[in-house]
Amino acid sequence: MKSLDELSEKELKGKRVFLRTILNLPISKDGGVTDIFRLKQALPTIEYLVKSRAKVVIAGHFGRKGESIKPVAEALKALAPNVPMYFFGTPFAEAPKEVAALKEGECLILENTRRDPGEETNGAAFAQLLASLADIFVGDAFPDVHREHASVVGVAKLLPAYAGFLIRDEVRELDAARAPKSPSFAILGGAKFETKAPLIKLLLEKYDHVFITGALANDVFKARGLPVGRSLISKELPGQDVLSNPHFVAPIDVTAEGGDGQARVKKPEEVAADDKIVDIGPDTVALIASFIAEAKSILWSGPTGMYENGYISYTENIATLVSEAHRGGANVVIGGGDTIAAIRAAGIPQEELGFLSTGGGAMLEYLLKGTLPGIEVLK
Ligand code: 3PG
Repeated sequence: MKSLDELSEKELKGKRVFLRTILNLPISKDGGVTDIFRLKQALPTIEYLVKSRAKVVIAGHFGRKGESIKPVAEALKALAPNVPMYFFGTPFAEAPKEVAALKEGECLILENTRRDPGEETNGAAFAQLLASLADIFVGDAFPDVHREHASVVGVAKLLPAYAGFLIRDEVRELDAARAPKSPSFAILGGAKFETKAPLIKLLLEKYDHVFITGALANDVFKARGLPVGRSLISKELPGQDVLSNPHFVAPIDVTAEGGDGQARVKKPEEVAADDKIVDIGPDTVALIASFIAEAKSILWSGPTGMYENGYISYTENIATLVSEAHRGGANVVIGGGDTIAAIRAAGIPQEELGFLSTGGGAMLEYLLKGTLPGIEVLK
């Protein structure tokens, strides 16, 4: 993969750079930005381009309903007050005029790329319009590299293309997670077993122990014939290849919310018909603590419980154990939007945890496939 490291400040000076970065931030109900973790991770590339006196065209998507990117542009400006950045919300067809007026070391933020119908279809006309705005393409939106969209893939094929610092780091860390050092421990949560099954199979081959948690654990209980009450269950359930795999680890206790709304810790076999499993329990944390303490490589995606409903304490316990292991020298990669949000809510500083991936679906797909369309175009 070609990376921005290969371009010196001198080579970038005065060049128009199309930077496809991460502007897709979590949104509150009223349309505001709720977390700027992704922007912070995107900033080093922007700062390098500005320091090199490039003319930077910043592009990305935001939300799924064609939302204006303005709140993200404001958040980015607030994060880097010394970087000259402009957002005009101009229609794409008029962007060439604004780019022509850009001075060296300035940034123009384009409107949400998904406002153009050619973005999601990877339309040639939209890709060509975007390519006409720049001399060089820099791809840095790791969370979006699984999308074969015009601003991620199409434009990159029309210009000399380089990975930004974030994609460079994500690829390095996720490649390391695909080749873990033994003893290794993977934690996989989330829902929809059918979409995670291939990754679970791969992790069971590569990792010494794979702990399945979150709603995926409910599928394990159900497949084992245990009661699951009102818990969230996937369309497909794990088979014997997972359940009797010697590398597979399941929770040994759960937190279940009863019909009365009270949460109680139980053994999986004690779950009642009106219970909903909402988290793991303390015995499970104790069980996996030794795996975490011994591991040289730890991969973690997905909180243990419904953190959005306040079930966060066991995820916090695990985050503390993982940060201790990281301090002791373990290589740690953590990702998946919800995982990062839950851990950040726990207040553990980012640098104490290891590498935090910005990717949600992209991280899981990269772990499975070892490449993705938005990475291939940078090769
Ligand atoms: C993400 O948040 O996972 C990426 O930015 C991709 O967003 P999308 O699922 O709307 O394509």
